[in-house]
Amino acid sequence: MRCSVLAKDTIPALYPPSVKPSARALPLLPFIARFVRNPLRSLPRAVYEQPIVLYGKKRPLVAWVTDPALTDMILVKDATRFPKTRLDRRVLKPVVGDGLLTAEGDHWRWQRKLASPLFRPADIIGYTPIMGDAAREQIARWRSKGSSIVSDLNNDMTDTTFAVIARTILAGIDEAEGAEIKRSGHAYLDPIAWEVAAALLLLPETWWHPGKRRMRQAAIDGRAVVQRLLEHRRQNGGDGDDLVARMLSATNPNSGEPMTDEQLIDNLGTFLLAGHETTAKALTWTLYLLARAPEWQERVRDEVMSVTGGNPITSDHIPQLVITQRVLKESMRLYPPVPVMTRVNAHDAVEVGGKSLPAPTLIVLPIYAIHRHVELWDDPARFDPDRFLPERESTYPRTQFMPFGYGQRVCIGAAFAMIEATTILATLLQGARFAWDGRHAPEPISRVTLRPAGGMPLKVTLI
Ligand code: HEM
Repeated sequence: MRCSVLAKDTIPALYPPSVKPSARALPLLPFIARFVRNPLRSLPRAVYEQPIVLYGKKRPLVAWVTDPALTDMILVKDATRFPKTRLDRRVLKPVVGDGLLTAEGDHWRWQRKLASPLFRPADIIGYTPIMGDAAREQIARWRSKGSSIVSDLNNDMTDTTFAVIARTILAGIDEAEGAEIKRSGHAYLDPIAWEVAAALLLLPETWWHPGKRRMRQAAIDGRAVVQRLLEHRRQNGGDGDDLVARMLSATNPNSGEPMTDEQLIDNLGTFLLAGHETTAKALTWTLYLLARAPEWQERVRDEVMSVTGGNPITSDHIPQLVITQRVLKESMRLYPPVPVMTRVNAHDAVEVGGKSLPAPTLIVLPIYAIHRHVELWDDPARFDPDRFLPERESTYPRTQFMPFGYGQRVCIGAAFAMIEATTILATLLQGARFAWDGRHAPEPISRVTLRPAGGMPLKVTLI
């Protein structure tokens, strides 16, 4: 403790890029204009300062909730009154259909039960060598281009995490299919803020907006690849107990029927997308922060070298990489890979934080703003991994730091993602140094996941 405080005093304060909030809630048209550029820009400053803020003159269109106790009420205590929204389903349905991420009620429950055994931390830890291999392959790709190069870490981390998902819970995707899934995933998410804005304004699903045709085509292309993966696995059988095998042999306890092809594609699409894009963003932003804070980069590398002796990361190393995980958490505080969650009081009016919300009001839980709220964090915009020293972390309510959400819909892949991000980050730091060009300060943009505007070019020097 003493040591880390001393070390911290010698490290210059870093205030990495953030989204500038609007000074006050804007009228509808300017609000939508800001929203389509970056939904986080439409958040008024008050959202970072107050427990609950309403938007809308006569009747609230949106309630932004940031207070941990109110968030707990919505996600846990009164969760049945606050289901997921039609907005979520409308925006994501073309890709992930009625799979685990978007389903509700019994249909959600049996899918969750089916997939849960594959995500036990004790089993996932066994994937550590595969995760380390994927990171070493990335280092080899850099090496093939030179010993010191500039590379877009945003693309590189997408490739690395995709390789992991395609070799673990969703085996059997070849390289060309993988490339097509990544391409269609991006093409779908690029214009997504338009679709969210249309849903907010209750415009029909047929309403045209820039990028609409591209989104539709991307959804069709992505699902076609998943369908091919499924046919391939049906013909060739599966290896063991991965997600595809489990879903192919499952029967719905309510109907006794197996999953239809449609349901299988919904779920495989869900896991392919949710299972790599998010962890890729966590790693991209973490490497940016470490490039901006070279002292922290050295501290993490020192820890990795002293725990592993420079050898491949094993499952035994993971719990010992404590500074590495502190840095990952602080990175996900500042740049939560999923920056916003939504719920709705679907059926009846509710009182939340002294404000009455008629049914249905869209309730936005802006993880990005909760993680930077002035009432919850000391000097919130500063990068300070010591916030996650065990004695400090244990004082935060579970809904104050929640990159993986909370309650019954908490991310099923949270342990997978932490083990994966730790293994990949540690392996990359064994093999390379990351440096900032002194200029690139990317705005974090919400496109379901939190992307760096203009990508993430960093200088990579191989060790
Ligand atoms: C750093 C990485 C990740 C982050 C930050 C993240 C974040 C989240 C969040 C915030 C939710 C809750 C959404 C809500 O309640 O509205 C969620 C749900 C989900 N995540 Fe993740 N996730 C990550 C990695 C993964 C991985 C690796 C997988 C799969 C291998 C995955 C699969 C899912 C699924 C299927 C759900 C829906 C669960 C349900 O509703 O029952 N995620 N994730």
